[in-house]
Amino acid sequence: MESPSRSGVFEASTDARLESFAESISFDRRLYRQDVRGSIAHAEMLQSVGLISQDDCQQIHDALKQIESEIQSGDFPIRLELEDIHMHIESVLIDRIGDVGRKLHTARSRNDQVSTDTRLWVREALDQVDALLMELQKSFLGRCDADMDVILPAYTHLQRAQPVLAPHYWLAYIEKFDRDRQRIADCRRRVNQSPLGVAAVAGTTLPIDRQQTANALEFDSVTGNSLDTSSDRDFILESAFVLSVIASHLSGWAEEWILWSTVEFNFLKMPQQFCTGSSIMPQKVNPDTLELTRGKSARVMGNLQTLMLLVKNLPLAYNRDLQEDKPPLFDSFDTITAMLELAIPIVAGSQLQRDRIAARIEEGYLDATTLMEWLIKKGIPQRTAHHAVGAIVGLAMQRSVPLTELSIADMQAHAPQVDESIRDVLGTKNAVNAFTSYGSTAPAEIQRQINLWNSRLN
Ligand code: ARG
Repeated sequence: MESPSRSGVFEASTDARLESFAESISFDRRLYRQDVRGSIAHAEMLQSVGLISQDDCQQIHDALKQIESEIQSGDFPIRLELEDIHMHIESVLIDRIGDVGRKLHTARSRNDQVSTDTRLWVREALDQVDALLMELQKSFLGRCDADMDVILPAYTHLQRAQPVLAPHYWLAYIEKFDRDRQRIADCRRRVNQSPLGVAAVAGTTLPIDRQQTANALEFDSVTGNSLDTSSDRDFILESAFVLSVIASHLSGWAEEWILWSTVEFNFLKMPQQFCTGSSIMPQKVNPDTLELTRGKSARVMGNLQTLMLLVKNLPLAYNRDLQEDKPPLFDSFDTITAMLELAIPIVAGSQLQRDRIAARIEEGYLDATTLMEWLIKKGIPQRTAHHAVGAIVGLAMQRSVPLTELSIADMQAHAPQVDESIRDVLGTKNAVNAFTSYGSTAPAEIQRQINLWNSRLN
């Protein structure tokens, strides 16, 4: 069967190699629900402006609904010569209702049809990712109350830096994923504009009503310039970028938890249903889910690169290159969805190794900065206090003891202002309790953040 897009101008039929080179049905068939929805909205508009009759519209509607349910049940033959999902559906429609089906493509081109369907698909996919991100935030938040008594080292340069409450870590990830959700909401505003009715490139001479189809498809507004709209894939680039940042956040989290699961750190035990074994080393319980989260994030970022390169030299307006936007777009959404669906139970179900963490928490002089700030409060200039505490830490290192085991006289040798009350800020528990600033690890600040997120997420 010859493609319906080959008009009477063609004298030769399509080379079979071109057919398989040019098809997109193998990946754009997943747009079928959006395509049917867009076509029904278009037909209803054609009817209300008088371009087709009420009976035509009804027949188109019923046949499209029938085709949709056939595709859904897997009962839909693929024919490469029909190229894409749009022509598959239209050609079956014409087979079934003849001339009435031939009216559907009035005042429409596949150029605005593809853009409409893709925008509808991306809008729904963004909403799904947003819902998963919220679930992940809830997994982190759900840990906070129970982990409130655990102190962890915060690292800079992956060297022990200062003590923090474990929920400080969980809240940090909640913030990152919240920015991701804000980016989704912002990007969604530009996704949610109706291209339908720009037709091929210049618009149409027929009396269409673009606002009506936009309303029916729950778009916020209609796009302003047909030439721009026909070529515009910014909404895909933005979505791929938003997903890349999510991938980066998930990859950093995965890296951290891989480290935390090592014998060397021994901070964390992951639920075993998300770990794998080794075929030769019987003792191994490997964090493959996290490693693959880190690994697959590369794909998501690569997809963004592919999309940027795809569009960068295209003249206005539609060019066939644009068909290549869908595989990376779909892959990024699929990959992020799979990562999030696994991260949610892993975050909720992992156990902190409380005893192991506590046994080593006084190593690494996490309270040194708190000691320095105690001296600053006594009126010592920061640089002087910094130097003196360095010398005090050096002494403790020499003796292989924590700061709490130095005598007052030991400390006074480097900072004469030290007195007994210094003990109030030494040791990680005292140090944590000494914090006061907004957003810090002070227990009251952590509680404020937990309350805030409880009210936002629940
Ligand atoms: N399969 C094409 C795509 O997805 C359909 C657009 C066809 N438009 C055109 N002018 N040939 O991009």
